[in-house]
Parts: sequence; structure tokens; C-alpha cells
Amino acid sequence: TPPSIIRNFCIIAHIDHGKSTLADRMLQLTGVVDARAARAQYLDRMDIERERGITIKSQAVRMPWTITDEAAAAHDTEAGTYVLNMIDTPGHVDFTYEVSRSLEACEAAILLVDAAQGIEAQTLANLYLAMSADLHIIPVLNKIDLPSANPEKYAAELAGLVGCEPEDVLRVSAKSGVGVEELLNEIVKQIPAPVGDADAPARALIFDSVYDTYRGVITYVRVVDGELTHRDRIKMMSSNATHELLELGVISPEQVKSDKIGVGEVGYLITGVKDVRQSRVGDTITTQNGAATESLGGYKHPNPMVYAGLYPIDGDQFGDLREALEKLQLNDAALTYEPETSGALGFGFRCGFLGLLHMEITRDRLEREFNLDLISTAPNVVYEVVMEDTSRVEVTNPSEFPEGKIHEILEPVVRATILSPSDYIGTIMELCQTKRGNLLGMDYLSEDRVEMRYTLPMGEIVFDFFDQLKSRTKGYASLDYERKGEQAADLVKVDILLQGEPVDAFSAIVHRDSAYGYGVQMVAKLKELIPRQQFEVPIQAAIGARVIARENIRAIRKDVLAKCYGGDISRKRKLLEKQKEGKKRMKMVGRVEVPQEAFVAALATG
Ligand code: GTP
Repeated sequence: TPPSIIRNFCIIAHIDHGKSTLADRMLQLTGVVDARAARAQYLDRMDIERERGITIKSQAVRMPWTITDEAAAAHDTEAGTYVLNMIDTPGHVDFTYEVSRSLEACEAAILLVDAAQGIEAQTLANLYLAMSADLHIIPVLNKIDLPSANPEKYAAELAGLVGCEPEDVLRVSAKSGVGVEELLNEIVKQIPAPVGDADAPARALIFDSVYDTYRGVITYVRVVDGELTHRDRIKMMSSNATHELLELGVISPEQVKSDKIGVGEVGYLITGVKDVRQSRVGDTITTQNGAATESLGGYKHPNPMVYAGLYPIDGDQFGDLREALEKLQLNDAALTYEPETSGALGFGFRCGFLGLLHMEITRDRLEREFNLDLISTAPNVVYEVVMEDTSRVEVTNPSEFPEGKIHEILEPVVRATILSPSDYIGTIMELCQTKRGNLLGMDYLSEDRVEMRYTLPMGEIVFDFFDQLKSRTKGYASLDYERKGEQAADLVKVDILLQGEPVDAFSAIVHRDSAYGYGVQMVAKLKELIPRQQFEVPIQAAIGARVIARENIRAIRKDVLAKCYGGDISRKRKLLEKQKEGKKRMKMVGRVEVPQEAFVAALATG
């Protein structure tokens, strides 16, 4: 395929603004799938994605589109049949790096915004990414069929952001199809053809890689220079590992084998590799013979930013959990895990995630696809503790917090963008203040919508920032954040003790100013949840040896049989058996018996 007829683009959109519907409509109009099959939504393959309404994995689809003579005249372009490659981008903050790689594979981005809602923070963040990658932006308002649509207002907003005239903002209804042909014509007209050196050594960018049970890893690439043929042996430039190419081709809408893919083309490769970590997003592929010497650049190793312990509620499921994590990792290069033991929760794994959503999705999949019942500890970020003797300790788990003399503690910081109706500026500022935020700037997108930029400690964001933001703004504010270095902070580890024994699952690293609040809250919660014992049980929160909060669970004489007035023997036996059964689910913390449900409940509402 000559590059001159190729157009590569992605769609940047907020969840529910209609990306999948538009993609389906395009597939249908270009004849790639018929209307009925389109409804199955080809681009979002995983059930969870569909249910949660988010796109996690980016994939690509190739569509032919013919510009008729009339269309050519109307759009001031050349008639003929073009090849459109639509690359699906993940939409959420946790996947910024993946988004940036799929943007790199395109010449343009369609900025798709719901005409009744306007742009959201994540979309704005992705728009900025696309602009800084020098992509051509085609602003499009969707859902113009809705009675609540306000295309005039939002066209002005988008024009302001993109730097065009409001009348250049296209208006479509992905649902009814209105305006979508027009959009396809504009794609051909506005998007520049890919540029690359066909005679240079092959270089292809990996923008996605997916594990398939039957075929192993399927790697999605955009060829930048040269070509890849099915006879080549390929080389991953970050690791120099080489692999035989078993198959290559394009997706339209299923895999279609081909002999080679060249400059500007988007396609898939299969090498027999069994694990996506051997075929990393952002890496450059070249051929073993006549290899390129310089990679395309921008490769970044995914580093987990948020850690949490995952434990099976039923200890017998530990082995199943390990197997499930192994399987998930085949398809998720960013997920890390290692076994850990908790006095309160038993055997489990400390897992690393890109962010909160990544964590939630992973947990969800473990529970649903693998039928596990899990409890997770409160998530925490990675701290670097510098000791007075200048040694450094990386803390991914509160239990690793060092004992000795600490010089300083460095915490990760993010740059957050919040978009909100201007009515909520006050309450958002208040929230950010209590979360140790620093206002960097504020801009009005329109009369009543504002963009606020903050630096915030990442540890505060993973705690409950997002929930609070949503509840304070009735769900109207949206948030995006990216890692921006670290800062020294006055942090302490708060332990929760039952009868003097620390309960590891509840230890947390918090700012000194929030330590008291955390302590009081956890102690009160546990008092509610832990049943009385034969003896009095003190619950304490402590920083080191200093107790900062305390409650007591009063003793009872637990004489269950006393309840059975009369001498019904079988009833007594039943009660005793029931009590024995209950015991199995008890965890001992020192001398104190705690039902596991108490831990689960305390952590769940954390
Ligand atoms: P994810 O892929 O789940 O991130 O969301 P999405 O952005 O792809 O949204 P999706 O296409 O699933 O559409 C979200 C909702 O908006 C669905 O209920 C669609 O039927 C509806 N929708 C999409 N386009 C239009 C449109 O043009 N008009 C109207 N009225 N509804 C639309």
C-alpha cells in the first residue's frame, strides 16, 4: 500500500461520549462489518470493558474508504480509494503511557466530545498529549441528536482549545449516522499521509500487545521505516531479543494475513512469544538482518505507582490466586506481584499497579474471571526513605517502613488537572488544601467551566481524593493526573494494635497532620467490628511507641449455652457445632480472636 493513500488516526474521547458507537458506525459505512454485527462492538473485546464502559486495550482496524468524484469536489481532495487505520486508545489516566504510544502511531486524532456534556479532564489531558505529539486534531461533537445537546456552546469551547473556528468543528450523531460520512471524507482530506523511508532498515513501533490463549502474544505495530515481511526474523530493540515471525497481517475487522507491511501501515505480528512482557508497548521492532541502529525512542518501562496487598478471603484459594495472577500478567506488562504474609489476612500477594483504576480492574477480573473472593489492603504509593547514615530504603509496603534515624522521606507528587463547573471552585480548593495541594493555575474554558491545575501528593490521591471530589461536585468534576517528581514530606507510620499486638493490614503511612484522624477512625471502626472477648481488649493507634488513640472492647462471659433454657440436647449440640465452625474463620492476633469479616469490613470501608 503506498503511503499516499494511508490515513492513520485515533479517537480521543471521554467514557460514554460515544467512541465505540462512532467506531462501529465507521466500520459499517466502510463495509468492514454489517450493521448487525457492528452492534457487537468490535473494538471493545473484553466483557469487563464493556460493562464498565471503558476501553483498556488499544487495537487497530483497517477500513477502505472511497472518495467519489462529488465528494472529492466538495471536500477539495482527490477521488480514489483510501486506507483508513483507526487505532483505539485507552481513555483513562492510569494508561497515559499506553495512550501516548498509540498517539505516536497516528498522524491525527479525532477529538470526540458529547455535545450535551462538553470536554472532560481526561480528554483534555489526552488532547494535550496529542498536541504535543504534533498530531493533527479533528474536533467533533457527537450526539447532536440529543434534545439536551448544546453544539453552539461546546463548538466554541473546542474551537478555543484546538485553535480553529467554531464552524470547523464537525457535528455528528454516531447513533443515527448523521455527519459520519462527512467525517470520513474530512479524515481523508485533513490528515496528512504518513512519511517514512521505504528503503531504510525496518523500524516499527509497538503500540499494543495482547495475550491470546490460542495464538500467544499478538503485537500491534505501526511501521515507520522499511518493511516487515513474513520471512523476517525480528528483533526487539530494547532487549535485543530476536524472534521468528510466524505471521503478520492487518485487522479488518478480523486478522487478515499478508506477506509484508510497509511504511505507514498498521498491522499485527505473531511470534510465538508467550508473555506480553517480551513484547513491550513503546519498544521498536527491527529485522535481525539489516537491523536499524537507532530505535524510535520514547520507550519507557512501566513502573507500578500504587501497591496493595491482595488476599483470598478463603485461605484455600491462595494457589488459585497465584495462578490467576500469572495468567493476568501474560496480558498485562504493568502488573507486578510477590507473595506476602499478613498476621491478620494470611497468605496473599503484594501487587503493583499503574494507578487506582488499574488496581480495581485487576481485582475485578480476578474475582470475576477466576472466581476468587478477595480482600485488598488500603493502597499505598512508593516512598523513598533517606536515613541519617544516607542509606536509602524504598518502601512499597508500610511494613517495610524503617525503624532507625530518618533524615527525610520523599513522596511521589502528581500534577493534577481538574475540570469542573465554576460553581464548585470553592469546595474543590478546600479539598485540595486539606490534601496538601498546591494551586498552579486556573483557566476558564467557557463562562461556567473551569480548568484547575494542582500539584498534589500521590498518596493523598490514592487515598480518597477522587471519591471526595466526585461527592463534593455532585459528580460534575473530572480529574486527570500524571507523575511529576517527588517532594520531602513529614510522614509517619501509624500502627493499629490489638492488645498490644500490631495488626499489619492496618498500618498506614500518612502525613503527620492526618495521623491522629486516621488513628481515631480505625480504632473506632474496629471497636464496632470486633466482638467482645472473655477479657478486655484495648485497641490502640500508635506512631512508634507513642499511642495516639485508644478504645476498649469490654469483656463478656460468653456462655452460649446459657441461652438454651431447658435441656434440649440436640439444640445444644447444634449450637456448639456452630460455634466451632465460626472458629475456623477466626484469626488470632495475640490472644485476641478476630473474625476475618471484621478485617474485611474495616478495610472495605477504609
Ligand atoms: P467506552 O468505549 O465504553 O469508553 O464508551 P464510548 O465512549 O465508546 O461510548 P459508547 O459508544 O459506548 O456510547 C455511550 C452511550 O452513548 C451509549 O449508550 C450510546 O448508545 C450512546 N451514544 C453514542 N453516540 C450517540 C449519539 O450520537 N446519540 C445518542 N443519542 N447517543 C449516543
